Amino acid sequence: MLTAMEAVLLVVLGALVTAVGAIMVYAAVTTAPFVRTPRAVIRAALRLAGLAPGELLIDLGCGHGHVLVIAAREFGARAVGYEFAPHHAFVAWLAAALRGQGRATVRWGDLYAADISHADVIYIWLTPHALPRLIPKLMAETRPSTRVVAFSSPIPGWEPIRTELVCGGRYRVFLYSVPTR
Ligand SMILES: C[S@@+](CC[C@H](N)C(=O)[O-])C[C@H]1O[C@@H](n2cnc3c(N)ncnc32)[C@H](O)[C@@H]1O
Repeated sequence: MLTAMEAVLLVVLGALVTAVGAIMVYAAVTTAPFVRTPRAVIRAALRLAGLAPGELLIDLGCGHGHVLVIAAREFGARAVGYEFAPHHAFVAWLAAALRGQGRATVRWGDLYAADISHADVIYIWLTPHALPRLIPKLMAETRPSTRVVAFSSPIPGWEPIRTELVCGGRYRVFLYSVPTR
């Protein structure tokens, strides 16, 4: 027979093992693990995209919501982030709720199923092998005026309108308009 203390310890241990297991599965299957964009790069990218007050920014794979919060607080934009890892989505949701000035929201789900049809600006920081699968979606589902800003990895086969070096040349951001279909 277990004592109450042993039962509590067992439950806590079970929860820990489950959480660590989920994070390990996420790390194994994700095409783009969580690494946040430095704030200076986010600001440069959103300036490069010309993000204006009231416009809709979508971050595909929003991590902890840093892009959403800066878009909402500093650019006056509406911001929606998609994130499939529950632990990151929760942190992003909290950041959006506390610091997004009522203009930032997070959807827990797959970015490849995101509704991007109303986006003015789409922010992307994914690994190079996650991008080819995204291209047909961007081409089929965005409006002609949508700007796409990509950090670090260029979108394969697309010609950027501008490329900017940030933080003394350490990082690159790429601005695109979706090519005509
Ligand atoms: C490199 S991080 C970028 C985070 C954030 N955009 C930023 O710049 O700070 C990529 C994020 O995309 C998420 N991600 C990867 N594949 C995804 C998918 N299929 N659907 C939703 N999120 C995804 C990862 O969990 C990770 O948080």
